[in-house]
Amino acid sequence: MAIKSFNEIAEIYDKNLEELLGKYMKGGTEKYAEYKVQLIHNLLKTHNINSILDFGCGVGRSLKYLTKYYPQAELWGCDIADEELQIAKKIFPKVSFFNNGYLEEFSSGEKSFDLIFTSCVMHHINPTERKAWVKAVLNRLNKGGYWAIFEHNLINPYTKKIVIDKDNKSDDINWMFSRKKLIKLFEGITDVNIFWQGYTLFFPFRFTSIQYHENSYDFSYFLTNCERLFKWCPLGAQQCIIVKNKGE
Ligand SMILES: C[S@@+](CC[C@H](N)C(=O)[O-])C[C@H]1O[C@@H](n2cnc3c(N)ncnc32)[C@H](O)[C@@H]1O
Repeated sequence: MAIKSFNEIAEIYDKNLEELLGKYMKGGTEKYAEYKVQLIHNLLKTHNINSILDFGCGVGRSLKYLTKYYPQAELWGCDIADEELQIAKKIFPKVSFFNNGYLEEFSSGEKSFDLIFTSCVMHHINPTERKAWVKAVLNRLNKGGYWAIFEHNLINPYTKKIVIDKDNKSDDINWMFSRKKLIKLFEGITDVNIFWQGYTLFFPFRFTSIQYHENSYDFSYFLTNCERLFKWCPLGAQQCIIVKNKGE
């Protein structure tokens, strides 16, 4: 099956993903978006985050939760797919959006951020251009800032099934990352270090309880803390690395 561009599938992307995940597990895509934002919020809770860029924001699934967990921060979203940005703009009128264009244009942009959040974007970038994009994104990180990257973990059998499913219109298994490959993106770049790395998304059921129990927010946060204990276990549905710009 030919991989479609995100401009082509902007209108149906959410629905397609929802149906795809629905084949394998209960509950929607929303909880995964909240899961990731909550993990980052938890891991960086002692740090001052005043500006956030959702790089490759798509239709804004993570922005909903970045707004929830960082109500005081200035929020930005960027993507290369105009059609998706149009949809996101309508849903999040308070977020600033831009089409990040090509490498040089993005790299030289003036605004920089305390946190750059990137969920399932790097495997859509051509492998020959990835290193250059890494440098470009790091250029937009404030000194002492963090870049959080989430990618699929193909060791998890469900994740792999979803990636190779015939109805998956946007993923190509050959462009996916192992942990080693993800870390390798930062090899030879001197002004950053790996602040955190681990497998994640072990407890997706927890957000389904949020509507029903008064205290389930605390419970889900408790489970987020537990994630740290399992970060070595390659069965998490996704993997995450957080890199820190070393400058203070
Ligand atoms: C699987 S979607 C993920 C969207 C969103 N981050 C989420 O988690 O719902 C991948 C997104 O990456 C975007 N993308 C691919 N290459 C990009 C690039 N070089 N710069 C910015 N966005 C890019 C696509 O347009 C698409 O919106």
